[in-house]
Amino acid sequence: MSRPRVLIVDDEARIRSSLGGILIDEGYDIFMADNGLTALEKIRGNGSVDLVITDIWMPKVDGLELLKEIRHVNPDIPVIMISGHGTIETAVKAIKMGAFDFIEKPLTLEKTVLVVKHAMDQRRLQAENRNLWVRINKKYKIIGCSKAMDELRRQIEVAAPTNGRVLIYGENGTGKELIAREIYEKSKRKDKPFVSVNCAAIPEDLIESELFGHEKGAFTGAICSKQGKFELADGGTLFLDEVGDMSQKTQAKLLRVLEEGALQRVGGVKVIKVNVRVIAASNKNLKEEIKRGNFRDDLYYRLNVIPVEIPCLKERKEDIALLLDHFLKEFCSDNGKNLKKVTPEALDLMMCYDWPGNVRELKNLIERLVIMVPGNAITAMDIPLSFHENNQPSLGKAKQEFEKYFIIKVLRSSQGNISKSAKILKIERSLLYQKLKKYNIKPKNI
Ligand SMILES: Nc1ncnc2c1ncn2[C@@H]1O[C@H](COP(=O)(O)OP(=O)(O)OP(=O)(O)O)[C@@H](O)[C@H]1O
Ligand SMILES: [Mg+2]
Repeated sequence: MSRPRVLIVDDEARIRSSLGGILIDEGYDIFMADNGLTALEKIRGNGSVDLVITDIWMPKVDGLELLKEIRHVNPDIPVIMISGHGTIETAVKAIKMGAFDFIEKPLTLEKTVLVVKHAMDQRRLQAENRNLWVRINKKYKIIGCSKAMDELRRQIEVAAPTNGRVLIYGENGTGKELIAREIYEKSKRKDKPFVSVNCAAIPEDLIESELFGHEKGAFTGAICSKQGKFELADGGTLFLDEVGDMSQKTQAKLLRVLEEGALQRVGGVKVIKVNVRVIAASNKNLKEEIKRGNFRDDLYYRLNVIPVEIPCLKERKEDIALLLDHFLKEFCSDNGKNLKKVTPEALDLMMCYDWPGNVRELKNLIERLVIMVPGNAITAMDIPLSFHENNQPSLGKAKQEFEKYFIIKVLRSSQGNISKSAKILKIERSLLYQKLKKYNIKPKNI
């Protein structure tokens, strides 16, 4: 790790050198300026100053003006004021203007080291906090430019600010949870809890206690009373994921809670009022499930106030390139790699594929390719075989695809050299050129 960089600003050379000496010993890199103007030049010209320690009384630009300017140029840089006799009041004013702290003259080793360490700790925490927020926001960003996604965004804008229950339908991996979170984020309840329950993942005998809580002694193992997810989500939003997997008995109980806005814990008698907005999601077609007798139609109508349907990825192929780009950036940066590019042939294969696992499948594939593929380009050769197979509806097409695949392979092995490749393939160079044109293969890009 590089050493933190501290800028010391004081018109007295003696102070600069004694402070500098202390901080160099503590492992900091030191820069000096003897007035506010040169200090500002250094900060502007040299983006990576981590901390400024400045005297208050200085010619030209004084400490307070410097502080103001630094807050303007880069509010993240902590500023510590050095206050001499008679400037304590000004130092206090400086704190109100956003200085981190002040140290009094004569400077003592302990106090100086401690204040600088605190300031650096705070800067690090702020940076970490911001990075986390950026990452969380990125993680939950909805990507897509297809008509279907635009329509989805429109529905979210309309539905989110209301209290209406939302039922999200979509195949596996289409982004149901992502959409549920977006609705919550844009709702009036966004400062209240978002509680998520995966109804398919909880065993039947535990789900009621999980949703509605239980009292002590309600069943073997209930050693103390516990709040359920409905209570935990009070005032906020409850996301019932895979709601189609609930048993008939739990469905009946859920229906009652939705109708009455109140519940009783398992083994309890007290009626507990709850104010919860429910967003439910299912990858099963619940209307079909009603016909089959697996889902209560009265519950369906309670949940389905605002229906939101997420189309599967193969119905919005325009989104593939954008999603690909987004995940490439995410995983290359997460894995500390240079941004990889995807060759047009590889992209072609992805565009022709049906994506039964939808966006999650695409995301997982990109993560794997970013980690596994050496070098900076993901080529057709790196794409799994099933993609190549998927792309061959007839024998003629299959032959062509194989031919294309084989030519790419040979070209790669001969670093894109046409004469060499033609020799290996035992065909004329002119024929190879024809085939490159036919299959849109660019030797430079493979
Ligand atoms: N439009 C999108 N933009 C960006 N990321 C997306 C998009 N859709 C889905 N994802 C990402 O794909 C992954 C799967 O999404 P999510 O978990 O929301 O799907 P799901 O429909 O709940 O899947 P399952 O039915 O398997 O539970 C998540 O990591 C999610 O962030
Ligand atoms: Mg899900």
